[in-house]
Amino acid sequence: MKAYRASLLRFDEDSGAPQFDDDGLLVVGPDAQGRAVVRAAGAHGALIDRFPGVAVHDLRGRLIAPGFIDMHVHYPQTDVIGAPAAGLLPWLERYTFPHESRFHDPVHAREVARFFFDELARNGVTTALTFATSHPVSVDAAFEEARARGLRFITGKVLQDRHSPEGVRDDTEQSLLDTEALIRRWHGVDRLGYAITPRFAPTSTPAQLRGAGELAAAHREVWIQSHVAENLDEVRWAMELFPKSRSYLGVYEDFGLLRERAVYAHCIHLSQADRERMAATGAVAAVSPTSNLFLGSGFFDYRAADAAGMGYGLASDVGGGTSFSPFRTMLAAYTVGREGQTKPGLSLAPGQLWWQHTAGAARALGLQGVVGNLQPGHEADFVVLDPKATPLLARKTAQADSLDEFLFALIVLGDDRVVARTVVNGR
Ligand code: GUN
Ligand code: ZN
Repeated sequence: MKAYRASLLRFDEDSGAPQFDDDGLLVVGPDAQGRAVVRAAGAHGALIDRFPGVAVHDLRGRLIAPGFIDMHVHYPQTDVIGAPAAGLLPWLERYTFPHESRFHDPVHAREVARFFFDELARNGVTTALTFATSHPVSVDAAFEEARARGLRFITGKVLQDRHSPEGVRDDTEQSLLDTEALIRRWHGVDRLGYAITPRFAPTSTPAQLRGAGELAAAHREVWIQSHVAENLDEVRWAMELFPKSRSYLGVYEDFGLLRERAVYAHCIHLSQADRERMAATGAVAAVSPTSNLFLGSGFFDYRAADAAGMGYGLASDVGGGTSFSPFRTMLAAYTVGREGQTKPGLSLAPGQLWWQHTAGAARALGLQGVVGNLQPGHEADFVVLDPKATPLLARKTAQADSLDEFLFALIVLGDDRVVARTVVNGR
């Protein structure tokens, strides 16, 4: 057993409200199955007598918070960050597909996967739902690397059997056989999970989407991930290809791809009926604000999502997104929420933004009670943050009169320099 004394940020599991101990204690140790979990969390003064023989790491002046969860990221697009294009579709053609075509090579895939996981750790991200590429070896490379690091991690082979260039396009029948084999090989191994991954409706034939839906029905515990309603040209294209569907989102519903554990990136250009279908089926949105700003896609409508009761959490969407840092993503989410010309503008509270990237993301992924929080029983994934990491941050956090002001200073001024340590699985 180990204990850490520092300021401590957690969330109420039901309401999502932030809970803060200025002088806190986090106690980590094995549970009955030997997993490293939170044994106790709260005020140092209230807890310390319960753990007499336990060594206490004194981290006073630092903030311990749950490890961040990135709900949507493409590890093979690590080298695509910052590629400018006239919107989503030209960006895919010009940069993304050529980069992804290199992932047939396991040596390349492994090298990028290592860099990617190092980057997640440097930024305090301890769980990610990530796209691989259409090449099964890209999935093996990511899972092998995540397993060696003890991460809770989800990925899957991209399905894209049309409107895709040679080098990334797959074969309908083989792609479904590969997916099934990868589910059997990886889902539930240590902390790993599989996601059935149709890229988006325009790059899959109806037969491939039907097969994906059948796999999703046969394997209820695996995730589904895709993109929807990111860009207006994309929406028009999807409706041309699937004219019988009620809407772009309706295409996924028609093929059995809306259910719990189905995560759709973007969800910008949806109707209220679409949002209500997501809420009713349990499908959730991965809100990707730095990507949406960089590619000029639009602004996620928080108020409409809440009115429909739809679930969501935050994501970097690297390489459309411009940073692995959850601080950059939370700040962009604030900016997107504030935007009030195309939808109602609102001010998201800092605790809300932080929740969307930790406990809220875990809830959206169906991992509530497992990761994303530091209540007893949660797996021991956390970050140690330095509120004095830069001169301006030290100045602002010293002046903070409330938890909101303190968290906002970190969100607005923070980046990888704030992350002093990332602890995964208690290590
Ligand atoms: N839609 C289909 N593929 C992609 C992708 O790789 N990135 C983004 N942002 N949107 C997509
Ligand atoms: Zn994406």
